[in-house]
Amino acid sequence: MLLYYLLASLASLTFTNGFKEGLSISTIYQQPEQVHLSLGVNPSEMIVTWTTFDPISLPSAAYGISTLNETTYGYSTKFVDGGSEKRVMYIHRVTMNNLKPDQKYVYRVGSDAGWSEIFWFKTIKDGVDWSPTLAVFGDLGNDNGKSIPKLQQDSQDGAFDAILHVGDFAYDLDSDNARVGDQFMRQVEPFAAYVPYMATPGNHEQAYNFSNYVNRFTMVDTRSKEINNHFYSYNIGPAHFISFSTEFYFFFEYGWSQLYTQFKWLEEDLIEANKPENRAVRPWIITLGHRPMYCNSLTKDDCTFRESRIRKGIPVVYELGLEDLFYKYGVDLEIWGHEHFYERLWPIYNLKVYNGSLDEPYTNPSAPVHITTGSAGCQEGLNPPVSDPTDWSAVRIEDYGFSRMKIHNRTHLTFEQLSVDQDHKIVDSITIIKDKHEPYPARKATHN
Ligand SMILES: *[C@@H]1O[C@H](CO)[C@@H](O)[C@H](O)[C@H]1NC(C)=O
Ligand SMILES: *[C@@H]1O[C@H](CO)[C@@H](O)[C@H](O)[C@H]1NC(C)=O
Ligand SMILES: *[C@@H]1O[C@H](CO)[C@@H](O)[C@H](O)[C@H]1NC(C)=O
Ligand SMILES: *[C@@H]1O[C@H](CO)[C@@H](O)[C@H](O)[C@H]1NC(C)=O
Repeated sequence: MLLYYLLASLASLTFTNGFKEGLSISTIYQQPEQVHLSLGVNPSEMIVTWTTFDPISLPSAAYGISTLNETTYGYSTKFVDGGSEKRVMYIHRVTMNNLKPDQKYVYRVGSDAGWSEIFWFKTIKDGVDWSPTLAVFGDLGNDNGKSIPKLQQDSQDGAFDAILHVGDFAYDLDSDNARVGDQFMRQVEPFAAYVPYMATPGNHEQAYNFSNYVNRFTMVDTRSKEINNHFYSYNIGPAHFISFSTEFYFFFEYGWSQLYTQFKWLEEDLIEANKPENRAVRPWIITLGHRPMYCNSLTKDDCTFRESRIRKGIPVVYELGLEDLFYKYGVDLEIWGHEHFYERLWPIYNLKVYNGSLDEPYTNPSAPVHITTGSAGCQEGLNPPVSDPTDWSAVRIEDYGFSRMKIHNRTHLTFEQLSVDQDHKIVDSITIIKDKHEPYPARKATHN
């Protein structure tokens, strides 16, 4: 009897204290998890990022068209979450290269200490004469993550060339000492390990200076070839995408300089994208930012104010506003999240509607088109409807779903909203038609 108790207490000691202290069982955990893809600097590259909880040596990806006959090595970074437990994880990044465009590849990631299962992806097509289809949404969490199953299915069915998530992840990546972030990244793996998953920061990522966001993603700016998860741009087919942080307009405690740096970068990127040799090739310029500059919402969010910060810039001095910048450089489409609904505006500049014509408002409009798509699903639920919307608001839909964008060619782009609540019905669809893509002030001068 005594011996039994002795043994039992010894055993429980081993198992309760064994974790990390390693009395008798091995607790080293080097198994890859949370595998996700992002675009490299061109279609011959694909970046894969994953997590382990103990260090590994020589993180690598094995990949190939039918067999895993190529291997590339990457690097690891140690990430310490800012929460009370100071949980440690190791983030591994590998760039798979020398890929053929428009080609399906199989791959697995890991090291000598453990490998993932085999996933696959298709590289994007080369050049500009093709029609990318993208899933677009903001505000997706693991709790009430309504759009996740459909995104998983469609991605594995090959429906998307990329998935663009316009801020607010997991709710939040850092919650419960970043365990919620781990859970979210596992939950999205069935889409993000198959299709490049492009991330834009939102307000829910702000904890500990956005460190969970910065460490878990790998967004490469195509021009500088550097990882800058806060602001970066990339090309898909006939479109140039610019992803940036609206959060620098609100969390000043992390440094004003980041706001100036980003604004300067935005202008440089837009100037470059507007160079005749670039805009002629990639006519569509599409921005991705979390908090909208316009909205009809009962919240007291920035976008509900006439002079919103995103639109007009820093209060009182009104500097670094984005509306003038995007108008000046002829941005075609501005995509936002943050508000938990879908709202489409008539083409707008400075609170005034600039329809192409009354019958065809989106054919050759004289101002950018704004769409807010923030109803992918999270624990905070949906915003209630607004009974007296402003006249610049064309459509508001308060149910769960995500957007799908097809860029047909240089002139036609279709944007639609898929309702998860209504059995995946398309509840809104517009086609923007642009015979010419150019800065709007130039348009006004020639068309007036
Ligand atoms: C791997 O196999 C593909 C054909 O599936 C071939 O084109 C490629 O050259 C091979 N790579 C290596 C490193 O052998
Ligand atoms: C926050 O992080 C950025 C880089 O992502 C850095 O430039 C900045 O100095 C940091 N701010 C603080 C207060 O740590
Ligand atoms: C813009 O077009 C829509 C759709 O035809 C119309 O309802 C709206 O009144 C127009 N706005 C202006 C200012 O012309
Ligand atoms: C562009 O795409 C639209 C929609 O599919 C199509 O109607 C139009 O003919 C295409 N234009 C060219 C030049 O192919």
